[in-house]
Amino acid sequence: MSDFAATKALFDLPPGLIYLDGNSLGPLPRAAAARVAQAVTAEWGQMLITGWNRGAGGPGWMAQPSLLGDRVGRLIGAAPGFTVLGDTLSIKVFQALAAALALCPDRRVILSDDGNFPSDLYMAQGLTALLGQGYALRVVAPGDVADAIGPDVAVLMLTEVDYRTGRRHDLPALTARAHAAGALAVWDLAHSAGALPVDVAGGLADFAVGCTYKYLNGGPGAPAFIYVAPRHADVAQPALSGWLGHESPFAFDLTYAPGPRIERMRVGTPPVLQMAALEAALDIWDGVDMAALRAASLALTDRFIAGVEAACPMLTLATPRAHDQRGSQVSFRFAHGYGAMQALIARGVIGDFRSPDIMRFGFTPLFIDAGDVDRAVAVIADVMGQRLWDNPAYQTRAAVT
Ligand SMILES: Cc1ncc(COP(=O)(O)O)c(C=O)c1O
Repeated sequence: MSDFAATKALFDLPPGLIYLDGNSLGPLPRAAAARVAQAVTAEWGQMLITGWNRGAGGPGWMAQPSLLGDRVGRLIGAAPGFTVLGDTLSIKVFQALAAALALCPDRRVILSDDGNFPSDLYMAQGLTALLGQGYALRVVAPGDVADAIGPDVAVLMLTEVDYRTGRRHDLPALTARAHAAGALAVWDLAHSAGALPVDVAGGLADFAVGCTYKYLNGGPGAPAFIYVAPRHADVAQPALSGWLGHESPFAFDLTYAPGPRIERMRVGTPPVLQMAALEAALDIWDGVDMAALRAASLALTDRFIAGVEAACPMLTLATPRAHDQRGSQVSFRFAHGYGAMQALIARGVIGDFRSPDIMRFGFTPLFIDAGDVDRAVAVIADVMGQRLWDNPAYQTRAAVT
């Protein structure tokens, strides 16, 4: 469905609130509450343990990580059978990276950039420390990545869309560059999946990972996903060799043997209630044409940038203007960004703040329209014009910013 007035009606948003933070936590799909209630009462409550084989409306809870994985796969350009859900994104980063390194055994360097999400870099640091043997993480500026792909690089590990600025890397071009240099490419699609069309197969990504609680609207704590390219799926070695990635989990063999293709990237028991919420969210996505979504997203972000720049000269655009160089968020730098964002939230415009000075606004055509953009711009102009960030009530930082 690319009728975005119709998709908007499928979300339960508090009246009067303009939610520009779906890039961090997507809103509640109306159908999710009933779906989760059904999973709790009719399935967990009545089916009890038999739900593993007949829950989730029939296929069984155990089948959901692959079934829902394929539905996420469509949104990132993956063929069915090569995307699976589970765990958190940080865990999936670790898995993808470990498997990619093992496929390049003669090289020791993971190349990434300083715009990457810190958890990705932390996981790489943890993995290199664990592996020893000279493995190292090399971090360069985003603009220097292409030229830094040297002959010692085993894996290029990047997040396609920068979580702070919204800057977008060229996935096919950098992957091609990595391949030409004999390296593999691992892509984090946390800020891409559901934000813009992604083509992991066409772009020849070796591994891709992402989360489902941002643009995909799966709810807080929704499981992550991992994609393994078909050419690697049967040879990728799972570093996290949990029982549900075993070729025959219920044989309870004492020795690990990896399951077929993407199944081997499963680790342990899947989060059944979270998957029920995610299933309701994916029902909305199933009908969305990604090209239409992208066109609508760019129209919204262009409108927002023009409106804010005209009204708020003190805000500096941090997001690239070129369409092909950005995702579906717009960020502005402002020295008092934290207080300004709290003032906006108090007036019903919800974005968020990323240290040191980034005010971040996410745009999702599924539930944000041009009227919302215009109303948000008016509130931002008021907050900035009246210097409302100066209010001491807006200076105390909460645990989550
Ligand atoms: C780009 C990126 N990578 C990794 C993560 C970490 O995800 P998780 O907390 O699900 O492990 C995030 C979280 O926001 C992210 O934005």
